[in-house]
Amino acid sequence: MCGIMGYVGNKEAVPVIVEGLKKLEYRGYDSAGVAIYNNGSFEVIKRKGRLTVLEEALSKRAPSGHMGIGHTRWATHGEPSNENSHPHLGEKEKIAIVHNGIIENHRQLREKLERKGVSFTSETDSEVIAQLAEYYYRGNILETVIKVVNTLEGSFALGVMCLDEPRLIAVRKDNPLIIGEARDGMYLASDVPAILKHTSQVYYLEDKEIAVLDRSGVEFFNMDGEPVSKSPETVAWSADSAEKGGYQHFMLKEIMEQPKVLRMTIDSALCDGGKNKAVIDSIDIRSYNKIIITGCGSAYHAGVVAKYVFESLCGLSAEVELASELRYRNPLIDGQTLVIFISQSGETADTIAAVREAKRRGAATLSIVNVVGSTIAKETDYVLYTLAGPEIAVATTKAFSAQLVLLYILAARFAQDLGALTGGGGTLAEVSALPDMVESLLADTGKIQQFAATCVGYKSIFFIGRNVDYAISLEGSLKLKEISYIHSEAYAGGELKHGPISLIEPDTLVVAISCCQRLAPKIASNVEQVISRGAKALVIGCCTDYEEGVGDKLSAIKFARINELFSPSLSVIILQLFSYYVAANKGLDIDKPRNLAKSVTVE
Ligand code: AGP
Ligand code: GLU
Repeated sequence: MCGIMGYVGNKEAVPVIVEGLKKLEYRGYDSAGVAIYNNGSFEVIKRKGRLTVLEEALSKRAPSGHMGIGHTRWATHGEPSNENSHPHLGEKEKIAIVHNGIIENHRQLREKLERKGVSFTSETDSEVIAQLAEYYYRGNILETVIKVVNTLEGSFALGVMCLDEPRLIAVRKDNPLIIGEARDGMYLASDVPAILKHTSQVYYLEDKEIAVLDRSGVEFFNMDGEPVSKSPETVAWSADSAEKGGYQHFMLKEIMEQPKVLRMTIDSALCDGGKNKAVIDSIDIRSYNKIIITGCGSAYHAGVVAKYVFESLCGLSAEVELASELRYRNPLIDGQTLVIFISQSGETADTIAAVREAKRRGAATLSIVNVVGSTIAKETDYVLYTLAGPEIAVATTKAFSAQLVLLYILAARFAQDLGALTGGGGTLAEVSALPDMVESLLADTGKIQQFAATCVGYKSIFFIGRNVDYAISLEGSLKLKEISYIHSEAYAGGELKHGPISLIEPDTLVVAISCCQRLAPKIASNVEQVISRGAKALVIGCCTDYEEGVGDKLSAIKFARINELFSPSLSVIILQLFSYYVAANKGLDIDKPRNLAKSVTVE
C-alpha cells in the first residue's frame, strides 16, 4: 500500500513525480501529494481523492523545483483527508517525508514528542517520522535518518528531504524501494513501472539500507553509516508494458496478454537454458515428505488448485493455507517440509511473515513471484519467476495464470522425480498446449460479454464446483466481488445442501464450473436444484451436456476438453472475462476498485 516517488535531477520535479505516481496508483489511491524543494523551502500540495484531484490542484499552481517527493496513499492510520495525506513535514518545516508502511510504536513516540512541546497536524502514524527527524536533527541528515530508523518499530519505506541538505534520502525496512539511475537525474520509487519511462538501470534497496541521491548519482550506506557498494541491475520490462496500449482498462489488456505470458513462462520452465528450468532442476523433491503451499487472495487460490495437482500427480501430501493463518499457527513444519510461497508482488506482508516463520522452523522455501528483486524472492531458497511483466490492474489475471502453469510444471517434474509419473512428456505437452487454448478462448469473448450484460442487477452470485473446479470457483468469486461489488461466495458443490442453498432465491445467479468428467453429473444435479428454487445458472466448462448459449434460466459456455488438472487455466479465463464485463457494464473503476490496493504490504 502507498506508492512513493522521488526525483532529483535536471528536470522539473512535479511532472516526473506525478507521472510516476500514476504508475503506482495501484498501490493506493485515497489521497496523494507532493513536496518540492525550492530555494530553501518546501512547497507541499496534497489532496484527498484520486491522483486526478491532485493533478487539478497542481494545474492551478505547480511548484517549481528540481527535487521532490510524492505519495499516493492507502490509509492505515487516520482517514483519507488533506491533512492525513503525505508528504508530512516536521513542525519547523525543515524535514519532509513520505512513508509506506506502519509505525507500530507511533503512539509512544507521538506522546513523547508532544510532552516536549511538538504539535502534530495529522492523525497518521507517519507524521511522527518527520517530527522525530526534526527533533533529532543536528546538521547531518544521514545520521538523523539512522537515529530515527533505529527508534521506529514496524515496517517502512521512506523518502526524506531536509532543507539544509538538498539531497533525497531513501531507506527501507520490510517495504520495497528502488532507485533508478539516468543521465537526467536519479529516481526513487516503490516499484519499477514508475521509472521505466526514464531508465532501465535499477538498484534494489535491501532492508535497512540507506540511499542518498543527488543530481550526480547515488551512494548507499548501512545502519552504521558505513558505505555499501551496490551495482545497478538492468530491468527487462519495456516502458510500453506499463501502458494501456489502446485498451480501456489495464485489466482487459492484462487478460488479453495471457497467451504470451503463458508461453514465456512455460518456455523458461521447460526449455534448456530457461532460468526457471535451472531452478526446478536444482530441487530434489525426494528430500521432503510434505509440501505446504501458501499465499493470500488469488495467490492462495492458485495454491488451492495446486494442492489437487500435487496430490494427484505426485502422490505427495500437499497442504494449502492462507499465509495470514499459517504465520500465527503452530504448523508442523520442519527440515523435511518444502514450503511454496506464491505472490505476484513478492511484498505481501502476511506472506513475508510466513516465509520467515517457515525458515525459522528449518523448512526449505520456494517462491513463485512476479516482481524481480522483491522481498519474498530475496528471502526464499528457490525462486521461480512468472514472466507476466508489470501487472497494473489491482485484480490479478495474467500473474495468476502464470502461477498456475509454473505449479503444474513443478508438480509434473516432482512426479517424474518421485517415479509417480513415468515419462511425463505427455503431461508436460498438455501444459504446453495451454497458451493456444487460452488464445482461442480470448478470440471469441462474445458470449460471455452477452451473458455478463444481463448480470448487473444481481444482488448475489454464487460459484460452485468440485475438486479443481471448486478451487477455481474461489478465484471466480473473488474476482467478481473485487471489481463489480456484487456479493459473491464460492462453495464446493457438495456443500450446497449443508446450508448455502437456503440463500438461493429468484434474484440469485449460480455459476457452476464443470471440467471434471466423473463429477459432471453431480454438478448438473446442483444446477437443477438451484434452478428449481428460482435461481438462474451459468455452466462453464468442458464436461457438461448443456447446450452452449445464453438462455432464460440456464446458460452455458463450453470449451475444448482438457486434462481436468489443468482445466482451471481455461475456466479462469471465462471467469475473468465475466467479472470484467459485469463491472464494465456497471461503469465501475475496474483497475482501481474501492478500498483495495494491489500490494498489501501491511498486516
Ligand atoms: C487479486 O485479484 C487480489 N488483488 C489479491 O487477492 C492478491 O492476490 C493478494 O493480495 C496477494 O497479492 P500478492 O500476489 O502480490 O502476494
Ligand atoms: N501508515 C501510513 C498512513 O496511513 C502509510 C500507509 C501505507 O503505507 O499503507 O498514512
